[in-house]
Amino acid sequence: MTKTKLQGLTGMHDILPQDQIYFKKIQKSVESIANYYGFSKIDTPLLEYAELFIKGTGADTDAVAKEMYSFRTKGGDLVALRPEFTPSMVRSYIEHGMHNLPQPVKLWTLGPLFRHEKPQAGRYRQFFQFDIEAIGDKSPSIDGQIIQMSYDILKDLSFKNINIGVNSIGDTECRPHFKKILASYFKSRRSSLCADCQRRLKENPLRILDCKEEKCQQVKAGAPQIIDNLCENCHAHFKQVLEFLDELELPYALNPYLVRGLDYYTKTVFEIMEKSDDGLAQGSLVGGGRYDNLVKLLGGRDTPAIGAAGGIDRILNLMKNRELKNPPVGKKNQEKPEIFLAQLGQMAKRKSLKLFEEFRAAKVPVAESFSKDSLRAQLKTADKMGIRWVLIFGQKEALENFITLRDMENGVQKEIPLDKVVEEMKNKIKN
Ligand code: HAM
Repeated sequence: MTKTKLQGLTGMHDILPQDQIYFKKIQKSVESIANYYGFSKIDTPLLEYAELFIKGTGADTDAVAKEMYSFRTKGGDLVALRPEFTPSMVRSYIEHGMHNLPQPVKLWTLGPLFRHEKPQAGRYRQFFQFDIEAIGDKSPSIDGQIIQMSYDILKDLSFKNINIGVNSIGDTECRPHFKKILASYFKSRRSSLCADCQRRLKENPLRILDCKEEKCQQVKAGAPQIIDNLCENCHAHFKQVLEFLDELELPYALNPYLVRGLDYYTKTVFEIMEKSDDGLAQGSLVGGGRYDNLVKLLGGRDTPAIGAAGGIDRILNLMKNRELKNPPVGKKNQEKPEIFLAQLGQMAKRKSLKLFEEFRAAKVPVAESFSKDSLRAQLKTADKMGIRWVLIFGQKEALENFITLRDMENGVQKEIPLDKVVEEMKNKIKN
């Protein structure tokens, strides 16, 4: 019988203990910035009716047509693991009558999503996003605010070379006309397009603008631009959005070929990348835009909205890479204990557990290895962890209510009364 070694699924990865610190940092930044801007936290289920995404995200989008994890339940319902948050957020807005609340309703969330994509750098089949949505506001100022918040989060996480690409893709009034202009441009160059784009030419010529194939990029370079073909309303909206971005002094650049790969977008779309000098390609870190027709499409009232989502795994990879190259100097790692509590003998072990609890209550991080009995083994563990201060709690100490502190750097030892030890150690690691 052959033994199979179980592995994780392709495109799915663990977030290992050593990476949790980055994950937590991202979560904290998102939460504090979302709170500051008055966004409320919401959690939606991982599983929804597949129809929500077929209708909302779009039946022809890659995320739904090629990548959605969907299946029938025992009861016969066709359900899907969420490939993105936006349709779920809108469903929840409609289902819970949030149109009765003061508008816009500002929501944020964070969690795992699933897309059966071709695995490559920064592209996973289970990945995490943070997501912000402002539902019920058509004013261009909220477009500016959503872009500002996305920028703030990356800035807060110490990203330096942030590049915001912005475009407007019009609405139902001007886009059909532009699609015709675009289709006729590409039709006369059909043979120079990749096979996928030849198909897109029929279904949605806008998507050709999004193609990463070299040959299509060349054809695209001369294509007509939607900003020259916007209706009056979309044009005025976009102009004001750009004025806000100027006022906010955000580092944006017009990208006339930015169209985004999801069906619901109208007017403003944007993507944020980091111009990296180390070549660690991760693609866009944040993507978003306005979706003024989605609430109605999913059965709600006519309600304008805008939002954005950030790829946590990609952001985490870049943060980790940055720190590997430039390890922080002179900064204490708050997560890493600087004290080790070693014990010897049954009575000392019992008392150590109590002392450990006292350190926890005082919020002083302490490492231990209670499962080990030998002092040598415990000192070796402390040494491996790079810990300087070891508290030794042996039989004599337990009987006489003191503890021995050993400085691992020079081997010097001193005795501390048991009732003073927490306070004294707290002061020691402060300095
Ligand atoms: P999206 O562009 O599909 O937009 O995804 C947003 C971000 O999620 C991307 O910029 C990227 O950082 C990350 N991401 C997407 N796919 C993957 C993947 N396979 N692996 C790792 N990271 C990935 C949306 O999802 C929209 N719902 C954003 C939005 C919110 N628009 C309006 N409101």
